[in-house]
Amino acid sequence: MLSERMQTALNQQINEEMYSAYIYLSMAAYFHGLNLDGFANWMRIQYQEETAHAMKFYDYIYERGGDVTLLPIAGPPKTWESPLHVFQEAYNHECKVSGLINELVNLAIEEKDHATLNFLQWFVSEQVEEEASADKIVQSLRLIDGNPAALFMLDREMAQRSPEEDEDEE
Ligand code: FEO
Repeated sequence: MLSERMQTALNQQINEEMYSAYIYLSMAAYFHGLNLDGFANWMRIQYQEETAHAMKFYDYIYERGGDVTLLPIAGPPKTWESPLHVFQEAYNHECKVSGLINELVNLAIEEKDHATLNFLQWFVSEQVEEEASADKIVQSLRLIDGNPAALFMLDREMAQRSPEEDEDEE
């Protein structure tokens, strides 16, 4: 059985993951608008990953006999200054989410909820990957420094990301 505090915090995290999905979907739309369909593809897969994260929390709450409460999802930003700015913001966002996961871990420790502590370990590892993959693209975009030919090449590379590939990495 989940404590009331733990249940409230896990429900809040469903909302945070859904908001993450919304941000990435908005970033996908931004890239579609720039005709950078490879970047848009990468973002759409990221959107799917975030909804899968939200569903992991959803399923876990039910597994523990709790109640899922869906909260309103805030509107995401719509425009950014450049592709580099998008990925800098994605990286910053993932660092923020890592902080939220750490707070959940702290709460599970406080509540002596070992099952939730164990459940959260997957997210602790996932956040290391999430930060690293966004940062890797920030570094590539810094090197490219707005060069159109190099941006085109990176766009083609980003088009290769597939959901199956992501599952293999897990
Ligand atoms: Fe659900 Fe990108 O962390």
